[in-house]
Order: sequence, then structure tokens, then C-alpha cells
Amino acid sequence: MKILFVGDIVAKPGRVAVKEILPDLIKKEKIDLVVANIENLAHGKGATAETVEEMREAGVDIMTSGNHIWFRGEFAESLSRDPTILRPANYPSDTPGFGFTFAETKKGKVLVINLLGSQWMNQPVEEPYRTVDAILLDQVEKEKPAAILVDYHAEATSEKAALAWFLDGRVSAVIGTHTHIPSCDATVLPKGTAFVTDVGMTGAIHSVLGVKPDIIIKRQKDPYPVKFEWVETGPKAFRSCLIETTKAGLAKSIKRVDSELG
Ligand SMILES: [Fe+2]
Ligand SMILES: [Fe+2]
Repeated sequence: MKILFVGDIVAKPGRVAVKEILPDLIKKEKIDLVVANIENLAHGKGATAETVEEMREAGVDIMTSGNHIWFRGEFAESLSRDPTILRPANYPSDTPGFGFTFAETKKGKVLVINLLGSQWMNQPVEEPYRTVDAILLDQVEKEKPAAILVDYHAEATSEKAALAWFLDGRVSAVIGTHTHIPSCDATVLPKGTAFVTDVGMTGAIHSVLGVKPDIIIKRQKDPYPVKFEWVETGPKAFRSCLIETTKAGLAKSIKRVDSELG
């Protein structure tokens, strides 16, 4: 099975890149499932029903998220209702939404799990190790998924590597998101779990993680509050990883699939 994971789609440049690149990529690589992180989908701040629909039409099957999904209060309703849009599973149990889901593909169902890191994140989450253990214990025997994909949305590179080693041989892939900076360390760990520290951002290249550089410079240089403004034009990057799995549900390979457009 071939699973494509697209990194944090940020604002309009990210959505445009997905719409221009994804449909042909799905055909060319014969991709069975597309998962994308959408925490910055709508003007950099969370997601809306309309922007989610745009991504679905472009070929995204399952959407994961992270700390930025709460920007728009009204989106909690979509999270509560739609199991194809995830929020991290280690938020408190009364938080709206689903922390994991099953995607149906022609080659069997895929368990997709979303987790949030704790370092420098300032979010009320449980540590993810026991959360993911509990999900795997409850679901794997019962549902027998053909593949298991984890989006670990975390800031610290060490947090992401440690969780990938913890899950080696038990899931098909651990894909890091959140930093918006792609890492070149995509590899398959010894027991068969694919791992990349961060898949990167699909969005504006002429930006600081998607935000207008002037704004971030002011924020870092002066003590005065400044409002975030996201870059909406200019060259764009499409950042993703393609994972091929075996019949046993482990990873045969992982490769970066990156492109840039004007
Ligand atoms: Fe993000
Ligand atoms: Fe994030």
C-alpha cells in the first residue's frame, strides 16, 4: 500500500500547492491513501468547512491537526461530527473530536492516529506514550488494520525520534509535523517503522514558517505586541513523504516528495 503524508498546509499558498500538485501525484505514484495536516489551512489559523472541502476535492482523504486547530471555535463542531478530521488523541477526553480513525482503502483499512508533543507546546495534553499504547491495545487486535500511521505533532526533534523508536515494529510510520521545516532524515527503523522528524510545511516559501517575515522580526526585535499576518502570495513549497507498506503492515520504504512552484 502507498500512503502519502502532506505536511502542514498553510493558508492559501499551501492550498494552491496541494490543488496543483496532489491530483497528478496520486495518479503517477498510484497512491492508496492521502493524509494531510490541516491545522493552519484557513489563513494560517485552524480550518473551516470550506477549506477542508477544497482539500478533499484535491484528493486528501484523512486530515490531522495540532495545537493550532483551536483558532476557530466554530470548527469544533466539524471535529465532533467528522471522524476524517482528527485532533491529537492525548488532549483531555472531553475535548471535541476524534484522536484516531480508520480510513478505508482498496487494500484494507488504515488506522491513523494523531498525537501532540509536550515540550514548548503549552497545551493540556497527557504524555503520548500511554495514549498511543492504549489505542493500539484497544484497536489493533479487534480491527486488524492493514497499516498504521501516526502524525506526531511536536516541537522537539528528540521527542519525535523517541516516540518513533518506542513504536518501531508496531506501526507502519511515525511522521513528525508542527515545525514547518522539512527534515532530511526519512528512514525505516530496524523493526520496520518509517520515520521522519518533520515532513515540513506546504505553503509560502518567502515567509517565516508561513508568517510575513516583517511581523516575526518585529516580534523578536521589539517588546510591543504584533498581530500575525500570513503570506498569501508568491512561491510555494509542497512537502510530503510517501510510505510504501508491506503485507505485514510495516514500512518497505519512505521517501520525501517535495516540489516548488511559482
Ligand atoms: Fe503547523
Ligand atoms: Fe502546530
